[in-house]
Amino acid sequence: MDFVYNLILILHFIGLASVVGGFLVQMRSSQKGVNPAMLHGALTQLVTGLLLVGLPEMGVAVPFPGWESWDHVKIGVKLALTVVITVLAFVGRRKPMPQVGLWAAIGALSIANIFIAVLW
Ligand code: HEM
Repeated sequence: MDFVYNLILILHFIGLASVVGGFLVQMRSSQKGVNPAMLHGALTQLVTGLLLVGLPEMGVAVPFPGWESWDHVKIGVKLALTVVITVLAFVGRRKPMPQVGLWAAIGALSIANIFIAVLW
């Protein structure tokens, strides 16, 4: 099951690339907004993140030697930010471009989640 866990972690990185890449690629565009890569990346982060938490907590995978439990406050903050990102992405997909505010908020919250993931 550790192999499956690692495959899901790889999907987590692909989801990260999708949401942040979809944001960065529009940096110089005059029609900034939520593109499909940002929405699908956000959904990927939500699903893979919950699996990364759940598999070890159920006792079917060990993320790294000596792992005992996740920091649930850290996970809770990441989950809350990702839910907000996903809702904003759905809202953005239903609106006409440009949507600079939604685009900027999703990019900033996603990058904040990287800081939390690595530095917390
Ligand atoms: C935009 C959303 C997200 C981004 C950008 C993101 C980013 C990252 C990054 C960069 C890592 C690797 C950290 C490391 O190995 O040091 C990671 C790992 C992880 N993420 Fe996420 N994540 C997001 C959403 C979530 C969500 C919603 C959850 C759970 C509810 C989650 C749970 C985890 C877990 C359990 C790990 C592996 C353990 C760790 O090293 O912290 N992530 N994430």
